[in-house]
Amino acid sequence: MCGIVGAVSRSGAVLEGLIDGLRKLEYRGYDSCGVAMFEGEAVQIRRKVGRLSELEKLLADGALAGARAGIGHTRWATHGKPSDENAHPHTDGSGRMALVHNGIIENYLELREELSAGGAVFRSETDTEVLTHLVGRELARGRGLAEAVRLSLKRVQGYYAIAVMALENGQPRLVCARQGPPLVVAATNEIGLCGSDVLALLKYTRDVVFVEDGDIVELAPGRLSITDFDGRPVTRAVRHVDWDEEAASKGGYPHHMLKEIHEQPDVLARTAFDRILQVEGDVDFEGPGFDDARLCALERIQVVACGTALHAGMIGKYLIENLAGVAVDCDYASEFRYREPVLAPRSAVLAISQSGETADTLAAMRLARERGLAPLSICNVQGSTVVRESEAVILTHAGPEIGVASTKAFVAQVIACYLFAVRLGRARGKLSVEQGRELLDELRRLRARLEGLITEKTVDQVRAVAAKHLKAKGFFFLGRGVNFPVALEGALKLKEISYVHAEGYAAGEMKHGPIALIEPGMPIVVINSPGRVADKVRSNIEQVKARGGHVISVGADEASHKLADDAIRVPACSEWLSPLLNVVPLQLFAYHHALARGCDIDKPRNLAKSVTVE
Ligand code: G6P
Repeated sequence: MCGIVGAVSRSGAVLEGLIDGLRKLEYRGYDSCGVAMFEGEAVQIRRKVGRLSELEKLLADGALAGARAGIGHTRWATHGKPSDENAHPHTDGSGRMALVHNGIIENYLELREELSAGGAVFRSETDTEVLTHLVGRELARGRGLAEAVRLSLKRVQGYYAIAVMALENGQPRLVCARQGPPLVVAATNEIGLCGSDVLALLKYTRDVVFVEDGDIVELAPGRLSITDFDGRPVTRAVRHVDWDEEAASKGGYPHHMLKEIHEQPDVLARTAFDRILQVEGDVDFEGPGFDDARLCALERIQVVACGTALHAGMIGKYLIENLAGVAVDCDYASEFRYREPVLAPRSAVLAISQSGETADTLAAMRLARERGLAPLSICNVQGSTVVRESEAVILTHAGPEIGVASTKAFVAQVIACYLFAVRLGRARGKLSVEQGRELLDELRRLRARLEGLITEKTVDQVRAVAAKHLKAKGFFFLGRGVNFPVALEGALKLKEISYVHAEGYAAGEMKHGPIALIEPGMPIVVINSPGRVADKVRSNIEQVKARGGHVISVGADEASHKLADDAIRVPACSEWLSPLLNVVPLQLFAYHHALARGCDIDKPRNLAKSVTVE
């Protein structure tokens, strides 16, 4: 999704900082980028289709290097193809203002007609450009920038975060606003800043303000002035963010994804260990909302999420139903929000999201809340919209995840579901103290097992298996029970970064159709670990082998490995924790497959890290 940055400094140059901020937002996915710099009487815009390195070539003449104010953008195309003309920033042609936008202006066609009739000339195919003309028209009527933005936004329907800059008496002014996608602002004595993500601001400060929907912010060095869309002042707390820049960099690995896979044992420790009450065999979540009385009153849980986060939720369903005896429904957030769901009273909605900003997840959570469900969430980003709108939150302490294909955030989400299942089971008396202790001991022991798994030996083995199948037209990933969602996740990882068709399927369902696709030599990844369905999965392996499929078995079930053509062994652990180990070789498999095919691993084509539009 698009990324926004903006800066206005008292005395220093800002171009380098803006480019650095855009680089931090690259993970969101983009196809073009640009900056507008403000100095003297004229605005200078540079934009380019492609990567930031292309834009930097344009900037290499140094002409804008000294400017004290500017805005920047990485664009993920929605309206109009990726091109230099459609790249942001956009301007109204006056040479006094420029604007960047993340989101969608729904009524742009009618506004475009109205503005064209009034003489506005449009130079791009974007929905964004109507905003520049609306703001430009108000500026031409003599309004100040904040007022011009306010009046313009009253005309607009849609979903947006914007940053607008204009020259007033030769001085640059910066205003931003939010109605949907995330926006963070900050002001030090030296500089006023805005960005789509705190990562873009960390170079300057860790004390930031998360902009709320309906806020308009005027930014200047040493000053943040926030009003609502009617111009009434509002107050927002300054929050200290403890992520540092190093945490968001690659730390010596060739790709963020590989670094993030290797971080998973630590992620387990960070997300779980401080919350484990060893003696009580229970879990202590910080913050309110997880007390016995509330959890005992729950009748059902509705999980809403997208992509990888939904797969974590599907594993959560097995965990919560088995360990706590509470019924769980899982829906793609994009389906839930439009299907008129019939919801049981005394239920909770559990939104699972790495970013906390996914548009569909947010909308589904809000819908459930409006229908009386208590909003709970599992989320990786403190201060994100999902977190702020939840009554109770389990923060996953995965740290910033930059690789577009989610790995460590998934593991953290599954761990959060496991902890939640234990807390629920203990609160409702479904689990005894001893059972709680055993489940939590198992989780503690998992760190060493994960460390033992993510070694050169496994990496080499997975690389060798992946190399055998570089020409395969398609893959199946099969699993059952708590490892069925792991099969879905393994297939998703391969699709996302290697661009190979891969289908995740419930192993027992194969014979009802997909088995027709199996041809001799087709790679079939089967995930199996000791547990209640292990022998059933072995039968499914036999069925695949009988049709000539090439079976790659992943897991701790030795009997499956004996049946398979290739075996990737993972350490043994309890059935309920097996997804956390089994997913690792699948992440590595996708990584090495993509690497051997020369794909852009951290920034796969067409994908965005944080999908803030519908
Ligand atoms: C995008 C990302 C996926 C992610 C999904 C949900 O599609 O590419 O990796 O799983 O959004 O994101 P969230 O931030 O809500 O977990």
